[in-house]
Amino acid sequence: MAEEAILGFLQNNEQITDSGQFSAEFNVDHNEVVNVIKSLHGFRYIDVQDIKKETWVLTDEGKKYAAEGSPEVQLFLAVPEEGSISKDELQKKLAPSVFKIGCSQAGKNKWVEMGKQVSRKVKHVEDKVKGQLLQIQEGKESDKDSINSLKARKLIVPQIWKGYSVKKGPNYAPERKKVATDLTRENLQNWKELEFKEYNFEAKGAPLEAGHLHALLKVRKQFKDIFVQMGFEEMPTNNFVESSFWNFDALFQPQQHPARDSHDTFFLKVPSTTRTLPEDYVEKVKRVHESGGYGSRGYNYDWKREEANKNLLRTHTTAVSSRMLYALAQKPFVPKKYFSIDRVFRNEAVDRTHLAEFHQIEGLICDRGLTLGDLIGVLKDFFSRLGMSKLRFKPAYNPYTEPSMEIFSYHEGLGKWVEIGNSGMFRPEMLLPMGLPEDVRVIAWGLSLERPTMILYDIDNIRDLFGHKVDLDLIKRNPICRIGI
Ligand code: PHE
Repeated sequence: MAEEAILGFLQNNEQITDSGQFSAEFNVDHNEVVNVIKSLHGFRYIDVQDIKKETWVLTDEGKKYAAEGSPEVQLFLAVPEEGSISKDELQKKLAPSVFKIGCSQAGKNKWVEMGKQVSRKVKHVEDKVKGQLLQIQEGKESDKDSINSLKARKLIVPQIWKGYSVKKGPNYAPERKKVATDLTRENLQNWKELEFKEYNFEAKGAPLEAGHLHALLKVRKQFKDIFVQMGFEEMPTNNFVESSFWNFDALFQPQQHPARDSHDTFFLKVPSTTRTLPEDYVEKVKRVHESGGYGSRGYNYDWKREEANKNLLRTHTTAVSSRMLYALAQKPFVPKKYFSIDRVFRNEAVDRTHLAEFHQIEGLICDRGLTLGDLIGVLKDFFSRLGMSKLRFKPAYNPYTEPSMEIFSYHEGLGKWVEIGNSGMFRPEMLLPMGLPEDVRVIAWGLSLERPTMILYDIDNIRDLFGHKVDLDLIKRNPICRIGI
């Protein structure tokens, strides 16, 4: 459309003096005209010269007055034709800014008598300001004085307008020739008759078909880097299958605890039981469950070895922590900082925020004399490295920690506190049967990897992120993640 108009016009005319006027005359959008001009210029159908003009555009306030009338006229019209109105009454009739500006302008124009009572001094007024604004809005020329006064009242601001004047170029033709774009066999054979499109070195290339990192992998890497910077060692989490013993019993989780129900945990059919457990330690765990010790009364029930033997898909990575702490207790004590990020499984109803398998991030520090203050300090350090520096803690319950705290972080984007993890100090009923020295304390915390990833990548359905319904396109498109926005 625009192309035909431009080439056609130049056939009979020397030049297009102003692309702006041209687009107004031919009723085409100026942006479209500019695009066509750039393209025709690229092929040298036309020569062009830039035109820059200072024009004026209305500010928001200007637009308001263009539509509703100037404040001084609004004020004038609110004053009765005969008699007067009290200033307070008048103020109630108008918006605060209209009243304020209206008073000063109408007073200056000597349209009204301002006192406690306000009355008209003239019979009729003309809304010149509105008229001038409309004129500018329609792109018509205005005189210097009105421009200056509108500018002073901040109702208009200057804007640089860019356009072109256009003449025929060396390759001018009334219609664009079809150019060859591909180096096909036919095109190469006819190269003498054909005109080839020039290379556009500015053009974007086709997107590369390359591998893409999954969002969970990217966020996992960021968490891993933070742990490593803080001096944590990674725990071996390669066994998805675990015995109930390490997943629950070693953690002082009683055998009738609801989490150990098959509704919550996936138990294995084959092999259904574990082969070996450290017998003397099993004996101590049995004793602490049944009758306590170490200052505890225990749970007072018959602890069953068959229950501890049952194989399951680990429900949390704390199972690995319990193995690691037990191993640590078998040697002369050295303090340790451990972390893991890996998969866990729960027999849960799947919905937009829950899957039956997900990833847990877990950190623990094991040293003599640690306190809850140390845990809070480490959590603040850890989460601030993710850009979450506003934390709150809420008392909670876990069978294996006391005290326990849920961790909340203030999410600026959502404007509310969101739960981001769980934490606590491992109980003596867990640590002492392992053989750790009495003054050794273990502070630990855990969170899911999916939750922060969903927040960071603005994903509201976990099934788009993980599992058989995963959205591959989302994985290709998502940018390298920035934590903490
Ligand atoms: N294991 C806990 C969970 O699955 C998280 C946790 C880890 C809590 C360590 C306290 C200490 O939610």
